[in-house]
Amino acid sequence: MAFKQNDLAYAKDALEPHIDKATMEVHYEKHHAGYTSKLNNAVEGTNLADKSIEDILKNLDMDNKAVRNNGGGFYNHNLFWDVMSPNGGGKPTGDLAKAIDEAFGSFDDFKEKFSNAAGGQFGSGWAWLCVHPGGRLEICSTPNQDNPLMPGVGCGGHPVLGLDVWEHAYYLKYQNKRPDYVNAFFNVINWEEVAKRYSDGK
Ligand SMILES: [Fe+2]
Repeated sequence: MAFKQNDLAYAKDALEPHIDKATMEVHYEKHHAGYTSKLNNAVEGTNLADKSIEDILKNLDMDNKAVRNNGGGFYNHNLFWDVMSPNGGGKPTGDLAKAIDEAFGSFDDFKEKFSNAAGGQFGSGWAWLCVHPGGRLEICSTPNQDNPLMPGVGCGGHPVLGLDVWEHAYYLKYQNKRPDYVNAFFNVINWEEVAKRYSDGK
């Protein structure tokens, strides 16, 4: 069965003014669609074709560039759409809030560390919040379309929040001002979804 982009749970202009409609259109319809079709081409007729994307990434041959780049791009963007919402922003609650305080000291300390990971990723890549078995949280960044499910990449663990810091994710609205984009992202984070991923992944 071919891999398919997650449907967006909101309109492409719904994250305005933080994430603009033109960026959402090209990002979803061109970039993510491209990774998805190239992943499907790369796995077609191989023993990966009937595996889940998480299975593929966890057991990835890192020299398989087509699956590494496009499988990463497929998975990462599906996660990215799902952890944003027009009703997002604010702060997490419950177990996730406690785990953030335990790992980073406070929500503000978490925000600073995550923003530094996003801002400090040289060139294209992603910033991640990951959960390890037992519930410990960790922040890291990865280059290109790599993610922490892949062997030996980033902080390991299971990604619960991801931020795309490729220029294609922000250049139309923010040009070179990546920190402004990172700051705006915090206004649309769907903490309910992140909490669900935290509780499923720990
Ligand atoms: Fe992207």
